Amino acid sequence: MASPSQIISITLLLLLLLGAFAKARDPFACDPKDATTSNFPFCKVSMPISNRVKDLLGRLKLQEKVRLLMNNAAAVPRLGIKGYEWWSEALHGVSNVGPGTKFGGAFPGATSFPQVITTAASFNATLWEAIGRVKVRQPMPQVVSDEARAMYNGGAAGLTYWSPNVNIFRDPRWGRGQETPGEDPVVIGTYAASYVKGLQGNNGDRLKVAACCKHFTAYDLDNWNGVDRFHFNAKVSKQDMEDTFDVPFKMCVQDGNVASVMCSYNQVNGVPTCADPNLLKKTVRGQWNLNGYIVSDCDSVGVFYNTQHYTSTPEEAAADAIKAGLDLDCGPFLAQYTENAVTKGLLNEVDVNSALVNTLTVQMRLGMFDGEPSEQSFGNLGPKDVCAPAHQQLALEAARQGIVLLKNRGPSLPLSHLRHRTVAVIGPNSNATVTMIGNYAGVACGYTSPLQGVGNYAKTIHQMGCADVACVDDKLFSGAIDAARQADATVLVMGLDQSMEAEFKDRTELLLPGRQQELISKVAMASKGPTILVLMSGGPIDVSFANNDPRIGSILWAGYPGQAGGAAIADVLYGTTKPEGKLPMTWYPQGYVSNILMTDMAMRSSPNRNYPGRTYRFYKGPVVYPFGHGLSYTNFVHTIASAPTVVSVPLDGHHHSGNATVSGKSIKVNHAKCNKLSVGLQVDVKNTGSEDGTHTMLVFWMPPAGHWAPHKQLVAFAKVHVKAGSQQRVGINIHVCKFLSVVDRSGVRRIPIGIHDLHIDGVKHSLSLQAATLGVIKT
Ligand SMILES: *[C@@H]1O[C@H](CO)[C@@H](O)[C@H](O)[C@H]1NC(C)=O
Ligand SMILES: *[C@@H]1O[C@H](CO)[C@@H](O)[C@H](O)[C@H]1NC(C)=O
Ligand SMILES: *[C@@H]1O[C@H](CO)[C@@H](O)[C@H](O)[C@H]1NC(C)=O
Repeated sequence: MASPSQIISITLLLLLLLGAFAKARDPFACDPKDATTSNFPFCKVSMPISNRVKDLLGRLKLQEKVRLLMNNAAAVPRLGIKGYEWWSEALHGVSNVGPGTKFGGAFPGATSFPQVITTAASFNATLWEAIGRVKVRQPMPQVVSDEARAMYNGGAAGLTYWSPNVNIFRDPRWGRGQETPGEDPVVIGTYAASYVKGLQGNNGDRLKVAACCKHFTAYDLDNWNGVDRFHFNAKVSKQDMEDTFDVPFKMCVQDGNVASVMCSYNQVNGVPTCADPNLLKKTVRGQWNLNGYIVSDCDSVGVFYNTQHYTSTPEEAAADAIKAGLDLDCGPFLAQYTENAVTKGLLNEVDVNSALVNTLTVQMRLGMFDGEPSEQSFGNLGPKDVCAPAHQQLALEAARQGIVLLKNRGPSLPLSHLRHRTVAVIGPNSNATVTMIGNYAGVACGYTSPLQGVGNYAKTIHQMGCADVACVDDKLFSGAIDAARQADATVLVMGLDQSMEAEFKDRTELLLPGRQQELISKVAMASKGPTILVLMSGGPIDVSFANNDPRIGSILWAGYPGQAGGAAIADVLYGTTKPEGKLPMTWYPQGYVSNILMTDMAMRSSPNRNYPGRTYRFYKGPVVYPFGHGLSYTNFVHTIASAPTVVSVPLDGHHHSGNATVSGKSIKVNHAKCNKLSVGLQVDVKNTGSEDGTHTMLVFWMPPAGHWAPHKQLVAFAKVHVKAGSQQRVGINIHVCKFLSVVDRSGVRRIPIGIHDLHIDGVKHSLSLQAATLGVIKT
């Protein structure tokens, strides 16, 4: 037996070991312990970063430079610079995708938030930023960026995170739709800016960690009907580029100040995105002023040379990429071929220098050349800051806010812990753990499965019903049916997982896989009490049968709800938390995908070729559930307290009425004084039900009819807590040039003159937009 003093010394030893583990990383560069290298001017924290970068570049040889053009950047020992792995991921928590991050030792797991599509459904920009981090207002937790810095300090992760994914969820079959904030460009852009701010912190030009908006652009097909992303040439009109595909990236760069943009594998209009100077140099860097670096998708330079045969030699591919504006290759290609490209005269060393200025500047902004990390540079963060209770609480909170109530007949929900004491918990996702964190996840701190979650409220009878989500046979049906017969309520947890929708894997159908539908119907028929269907999925599912079946009382969509998903589901089922999520994407019927090629990029419908168009903005056909759908346990009623009825758009002074500026009943945005031009609305939200609740208010705009315009567009959203029987006033500001403009066929953004309608649920408000110098316009 060990004596007390032995125990104390063992404990001390353990603490010391743990401490050593957490401090495992030596400085990346400028180590104060190394006098020969720490005195270089590029190590001087007091000097402006641009001068430090210039000094460092001046000391590097071409051979050394090219080895810094790849994710696995080589060390430069003579300058005291270590190797660096650029590739880490943090889509919804620090992830183990990418060689930059390693779980284990002092960092066995990290907080796993819901998959992005679920968090998007909260329509809460404060939450989106909180997950990344949070404004300085304490005591909000600073989650992903804290955990990322802590793991970096412990030698277990990098500081450059290639997240978030801000592509449009354009087609419901896309396997990676789950990673995105949905189908609406403004929601995605707002999500991107919020999450990026959360990750990067708000210490001026300094970065806590560097985020990356990807994949630029028109990338939203993985592998469908023999077409994969490595071969796909997305044909995109100027109009769709400007009013759909560019929008989230532009907002990410301009509003989020992101430190990086990633180009994609696919081609756009015949040019690989990573070799397109119009996309990279002209648009992202030139027009949007990216303050950061442009990185390729992993091996996409190799892909456009080897797979797309875009150039005849690898040196030309390297030269094209760098000249187009690419700064860093995820993959070895640029490190292999750039030196020869320079020797052959295809590229100048100054082009290589421009690329390195962009990557080195980000490393300096991250403090990587400042020697030992100080408290100010987050050097105090360690293992205790990963999976901290407040972080895990926020993961639960995010899942609660993102769950969407799709149907509530009766109403069947919420369940009552007095009346529903025994619950049959059935289905292939009923005891889900890893399924709940979706893809680009890490190792979770722990899980609460739906079965455990419901078990906190009631006695459970558990049955899988199907062996897995593929549900190929009915062997387990009878057990499930028996369970439903005995219980006071039945909760079926069904849907998809990564075997059905993933990277490399698009769906071909929107229906539930295998015999899931049959199981649900049979169980519902046998249930003694209410039957509740809970769906886990990233993409939409055609559950019309369940929506129409009166025996299925309620349907909840949980997306992939993260490590605490089961607890959140149970909290919503029992009304501890009121459902408040709204669908961030359209739920189409199966018939939609049988008539539309996934490769067809057109957003707008085209009746003459029988093309229905995409997303709620352009598609007007039948839906299972529309974008923005989501029920509550209470009722909210809106009234508009104040809003202008006429808005004058001032012109910039160089343009007058009566000429091209305002022809065709629209004003070019470039010719308007956009600065602070906005429409201010005051809306009263009244909770007329008997339960307190949180309302997610979506403001849609309907521009004057015309062939350019979407028929509907979300222009603002807000969330508000309202107590039963009381009301809250919500202020909304809509930027006229950004949000009340449409894009013409040439890709030019214009403000239509005439009557614009705003819709908030059943309430409509009309505004007349006029050109200021025109006086009164009659429409
Ligand atoms: C938005 O999310 C934050 C962070 O979880 C939360 O504190 C806040 O209450 C949410 N807002 C509303 C109106 O629900
Ligand atoms: C639920 O899943 C957990 C973790 O995978 C497992 O340990 C447990 O046995 C499962 N429970 C049931 C009832 O199958
Ligand atoms: C429109 O007005 C501006 C400002 O006076 C002028 O420079 C421009 O030439 C005019 N365009 C046409 C087509 O008249």
